[in-house]
Amino acid sequence: MKHPIAIRCPAKVNLYLDLKGKRDDGYHEIRTVMQTVDLYDEIIIKESPREISMECDHAGLPTDERNLCWRAADALRHAAGVQRGVRIHLVKRIPIAAGLGGGSSDAAGVLRGLREMWAPDMSSRELDEIAAKIGSDIPFFLHGGTAFCTGRGETVRALPDAAAYAVIVVTPPIAVATPEVYASLDPLGAPPPVREEDFLRAVASGDPRKLGQELYNRLEANRGRHMGEVKKLKLFLMGHGALGASMSGSGPSVFGITKNLDEAQRIGRAIRKETGAGNFVHAGMTNIAAADRMR
Ligand code: C5P
Repeated sequence: MKHPIAIRCPAKVNLYLDLKGKRDDGYHEIRTVMQTVDLYDEIIIKESPREISMECDHAGLPTDERNLCWRAADALRHAAGVQRGVRIHLVKRIPIAAGLGGGSSDAAGVLRGLREMWAPDMSSRELDEIAAKIGSDIPFFLHGGTAFCTGRGETVRALPDAAAYAVIVVTPPIAVATPEVYASLDPLGAPPPVREEDFLRAVASGDPRKLGQELYNRLEANRGRHMGEVKKLKLFLMGHGALGASMSGSGPSVFGITKNLDEAQRIGRAIRKETGAGNFVHAGMTNIAAADRMR
């Protein structure tokens, strides 16, 4: 039996997200810059004789084949031609169905861990292909850091880590179904107010002021019931000194860029004091970078 492996699985925010229409397969063509942040789930994987089994400290999550971790383990085992099983222990800290990519990050963590355990010679390209079949965001989490993602989101181009930016992330207690958010949008609406080139220049500048001004997420135009709260939280963040604020993914999480970590923590305290007790709040940093630094 191999030793258990522990893996940290970071959350992400979408610094930029634009849509380029609906595809024949029902997905939307997107252009997004994703960024990992220092908020982590934790996974421990332990080899077992035959079955894939899973336990989780969060009662609301399925632990069978409906869970992306379970599917990731099954897909990797199949691709590697392995007959053994695995026990997956998942500690959840990233809010669920919140636009922070927690489930996708956990699945990517299982893929990274099981490749190390069962298929050390498997190429990164093959791992990327397995990841993309399970979910659009999973290839990004095999790499982490800052990346420009296109197609369904599964085509990942790493961007240089220009700087570590301070972020304040707030998640109101509203579960959001991503398919409904996409379905309620006009995929070919007006051109984005922020040009992609301008955004990429801002992210590369290392200047949090410039980045804050160029944040953009077209999914904010959806008509979901979470949008009232998203708008309120964005105004709250800006009113308390954030340099820019945006929704992450399909929401309901909102994040702000601040000039340093002290500022993010100060705004976090104000949110805890002045808004509903049900909000999840994380003050931290971006730029925790590539997968080999996630262990
Ligand atoms: O790929 P994933 O399972 O994470 O996507 C969840 C849902 O989000 C899809 O079933 C689809 O409704 C929507 N989606 C989309 N276009 C994308 C990514 C996701 O329409 N590029």
